Amino acid sequence: MGSFVGRQRELTELRAGLSDATAGHGHLFLLSGEPGIGKTRLADEFGRAAVAPGVHVAWGRCWEGGGAPAYWPWIQVLRACFGNTDAEQRAAILGSEATPQVALDIGQLLPELRAAYAPGPRHSGPQPTDPEQARFQLFESVVTLLKNVARIGPLVIVIDDLHDADHPSLLLLKFIASHSKDARILLVGTYRDTEVRQSPELTRLIGDLSREGYSIPIAGLSEAEVGEFVAGSSGKTADEKLVSGLYQATDGNPLFVDGVVRLLAAEGKLDGTGVGDTFKIPDGVQESIRRRLVKLPEETNRTLSIASVIGNEVETQLLARVSRSAAGEIVERMEGALRAGIVLDSPSGASRYRFSHALVREAL
Ligand SMILES: Nc1ncnc2c1ncn2[C@@H]1O[C@H](COP(=O)(O)OP(=O)(O)O)[C@@H](O)[C@H]1O
Ligand SMILES: [Mg+2]
Repeated sequence: MGSFVGRQRELTELRAGLSDATAGHGHLFLLSGEPGIGKTRLADEFGRAAVAPGVHVAWGRCWEGGGAPAYWPWIQVLRACFGNTDAEQRAAILGSEATPQVALDIGQLLPELRAAYAPGPRHSGPQPTDPEQARFQLFESVVTLLKNVARIGPLVIVIDDLHDADHPSLLLLKFIASHSKDARILLVGTYRDTEVRQSPELTRLIGDLSREGYSIPIAGLSEAEVGEFVAGSSGKTADEKLVSGLYQATDGNPLFVDGVVRLLAAEGKLDGTGVGDTFKIPDGVQESIRRRLVKLPEETNRTLSIASVIGNEVETQLLARVSRSAAGEIVERMEGALRAGIVLDSPSGASRYRFSHALVREAL
């Protein structure tokens, strides 16, 4: 992994949250931004720095493809909580003597616990038959367990890529956030705002969630930080012209910066020699952009292709004329591209669109 640059403000905020949590005031932070902007890396850098003073960091990564079991990110978090524990610690975390229900409920999520901690028949009273009630009980048990873990040491939980989470997992995160304000628990969630905007249901769920915590929108690296990144990769001060070109082409998206820098390094051009006004698009970047485009309707893709030939900024009327469509149709088609963050409303007028990145336009 390359050197880490910038993000001092965000790290300061997260660290303040952690010291608050360590003092017994739990918090939730939500890191949001477009793909490749550095959400996972920021959480990772924060988590690794946090581990030192006896803090336990547990990750749950949401799965983009189908087929994951319900509560998949939480299953990973719970497993991480049991990580290197011995039987005695496990029993303490489960609190199986005092709260047999917890072991029973957590056993639903972690089958490996079921055999070892199945409470005797005298403990297993009637189970709720109403699904809402059953879910509430499960949520309460997870909170009890996490609080038991946090009694041993402060607990940082990172749930990465919330836009891919199953909805019960999001509800559970919200439940934990609102019931752990008196615990040594710091919750960090990440999500792609571009993805969330495309689903009314996700927008609602994430909106509910953000009322329980603090939002940290992640923006691109500054030009100076892009310079630091290049310097970190080449081992010497970066060429100014190269840095400014790179910054303009990528808007400081670290995934894009990283991809182009690797390509330049492979071609021996990282010192700025032989670099023109445009950059070759690395396969990884092309693929990342392609994945965003395939989710949009074909008509929108066609309109975007036409727009990309016109320029970095296009006017609705012109786009309509060139693609032989009504202006209203163009607006409709571009709606999806706006939500996906492929284009932005141009600052110079409402009837104009601007590509979010020069690289996106080139990829098209
Ligand atoms: N602040 C940073 N400094 C250096 N590299 C970064 C930084 N942020 C992200 N990266 C790199 O950019 C790429 C994309 O970052 P990632 O965290 O995976 O994005 P996201 O999770 O927002 O999609 C990764 O290779 C990552 O290591
Ligand atoms: Mg990520």
